[in-house]
Amino acid sequence: MTHTHTAAAALVAKMTLEEKASLTSGDSFWTTKAVERVGVPSVMLTDGPHGLRKQRANFDHLGIGDSVPATCFPPAVGLGSSWDADLAHRVGAALGLESAIENVAVILGPGVNIKRSPLCGRNFEYFSEDPIVAGVMGAALVQGTQTMGVGTSLKHFAANNQEHDRMRSSSDIDPRPLREIYLRGFQRVVEDAQPATVMCSYNRINGVYASEDPFLLTRVLREEWGFAGFVVSDWGAVNNRVAGLAAGMDLEMPSSGGRTDAEIVAAVRDGSLDEAVLDASATRVAALATAWSAAPRVAGPLDVDAHHALAREAAGRSIVLLKNDGGVLPLRAAQSVAVIGAFATDPRYQGAGSSLISPTKLDNALDEFVVQGGADNVSFAQGFTNDGSGDADAFRAEAVALAATAEVAVVFAGLPAHLESEGFDRENIDLPAVQLALIDAVLAANPRTVVVLSNGGAVALPFAERVPAIVEAWLLGQAGGSATVDVLYGAVNPSGKLTETIPLSLEDTPAFLNFPGEQGHVRYGEGLFVGYRWYDARNMAVAYPFGHGLSYTSFAYGDATAAVEADGNITVKVTVTNTGDRAGREVVQAYSGLASEAVQRPERELKAFAVIALEPGESGEVSLTVRRADLAYWHVAADRWVVEGGDYAIDVAASSRDIRSQVTVAVEGDALLLPLTRESSLAEVFAHPVAGPIVQGMMAQLTDVVGGDDAAGGMDMQKMLASFPIGRIGMIAGEAGSPEVIDQLLAMANAPQG
Ligand code: BGC
Repeated sequence: MTHTHTAAAALVAKMTLEEKASLTSGDSFWTTKAVERVGVPSVMLTDGPHGLRKQRANFDHLGIGDSVPATCFPPAVGLGSSWDADLAHRVGAALGLESAIENVAVILGPGVNIKRSPLCGRNFEYFSEDPIVAGVMGAALVQGTQTMGVGTSLKHFAANNQEHDRMRSSSDIDPRPLREIYLRGFQRVVEDAQPATVMCSYNRINGVYASEDPFLLTRVLREEWGFAGFVVSDWGAVNNRVAGLAAGMDLEMPSSGGRTDAEIVAAVRDGSLDEAVLDASATRVAALATAWSAAPRVAGPLDVDAHHALAREAAGRSIVLLKNDGGVLPLRAAQSVAVIGAFATDPRYQGAGSSLISPTKLDNALDEFVVQGGADNVSFAQGFTNDGSGDADAFRAEAVALAATAEVAVVFAGLPAHLESEGFDRENIDLPAVQLALIDAVLAANPRTVVVLSNGGAVALPFAERVPAIVEAWLLGQAGGSATVDVLYGAVNPSGKLTETIPLSLEDTPAFLNFPGEQGHVRYGEGLFVGYRWYDARNMAVAYPFGHGLSYTSFAYGDATAAVEADGNITVKVTVTNTGDRAGREVVQAYSGLASEAVQRPERELKAFAVIALEPGESGEVSLTVRRADLAYWHVAADRWVVEGGDYAIDVAASSRDIRSQVTVAVEGDALLLPLTRESSLAEVFAHPVAGPIVQGMMAQLTDVVGGDDAAGGMDMQKMLASFPIGRIGMIAGEAGSPEVIDQLLAMANAPQG
């Protein structure tokens, strides 16, 4: 227990039952209750995640009411694409500062759910289809924010991978994908960064509401991962308050008007809830509230320009250059450019819902084009409208005419806001038909066409083969417009890479047949094979693979080395050289793979990454740590993590499909000796150090009796019987395999060794 917890426990000891219960639900939409009598103040928790959303009035959780202006940093879909943990840390610190100035104790984020399907309406708020990317970026954001004394709320815990039926649906997941994919990112953030709070999600997991799941909130989160903060419900996620408290769900939000506090009091009084459980929850909430009130106040005003500059830098690093044939990009200042598309003047820079920020400023690309390209060289046509109003043919004709007269055409396409939001999922991954028609028409008029995309989740790119240059600009926050132009003209050399695969079609995606489920259940039938794990296992073509992103320079990789350190972690080193003529940044990725004896495995899985900045001609060594714990798989029968021994292939790569160097490293596995039972198969028994040799001997005798392998038509008896449970061997072996003999054998095998 920390000092703060001890002090909070002392305060809770002075409280009445009713006062303690009062701390376990909100006072208002965004605040906790005070217990002034003993000195526990009320504190504010508010959204999150990529900017502060502190509402002025008209409280709601879907961003409908107005909020105080705050810097809108790139949402996770953008920031994640930077793969830059230092940058995430700086953005986190800026979020913390803005929260502190506004007297907000906890900012509700980051969200580290896995992008299971590109259709999830909230993918823009999440980092990746891969848990290491989500975990590393999430941890950096949490650490950055919490350096400012402001708490974070890691959300949405857990397996909240769709919006459809999100307040009821059960995410039905097998233990391995649950642990290895859906919980791994959360685990990383909790273990590395200790967020002040974790927000449980709305959905059920394998039938149990996250808000009342003792496995999730107590066993996994606290006992296994050592989480020390408090769990807050997503707004309205509480089903049964007393069951939730017993499961480890400390703070219900928003206010229940005291109704559920009374339920808790009654449950303690009638003995159905242990008062110690209530004490623990009240202590956790009081600890945060008192720590916050003791923290030094941060005076405003906010340096709006400094944070806008950081938002622009972050946006620049979030942009992914997907394609750049023939050096169309970067643009040159003297070139005449036809800027086309509604998003160039009316940017799509964040997603809708509870994360909707009122930005302090808003850049648009066209204004910045004029600054960087010169007013004489830049012309504009709207090309389409997002609401379908107006004459689409006329808009297109105007854009085509403009494109035909310019040296380069830049089309700003993307998803209109109404297609992508919290609360519902997308129905397809297509750009609006009017935009696709526009791109083709502009391309026909001008082969030097660049497409810039604004979208919170992957979209199909049917024009990818034809268009020479494509810039994936995601949703980039309030400075996205200027940052995009920084990249287009080369003031910023693009370095972002994809944290989600761009598929060729929706039908190709791993969850296609299991999304969004039906009758209250969504089956995670693809198991471990999420994102690139799926496309690689099935050897499928994709539009652009996970980890892909180009630069205006080029990088050569040397031969990687890998060494197991004393702590079991693997240090991977590789020298990277900037072989082009401009400074640039490269995201270096390390994947592992093992030809596994024990379990099914994806061909390659990301384990570590780092960014290196290099001047032209410069070389630098990148050192990556592959954590031993990240090599582990979840052993279902043993109910724990196990590292399988063997020769692991470490792929050092520029993308999941651009492996630059491969090195093999021998890893010693974890000892794993499961007790044998009558249900154990003969194969398991053969492999057992004590029982194995004995049963081998029995088998030899048996083979003699029944006439050897010849009697089985030349088949290998041992192989034929491998799946046979030892408890039923009497059927073949008679008395030699009687229940008594088998039980003796099992007792011998399971006796403590040594
Ligand atoms: C969202 C959370 C958000 C909360 C408060 C919920 O609907 O799922 O992400 O933090 O509302 O606005």
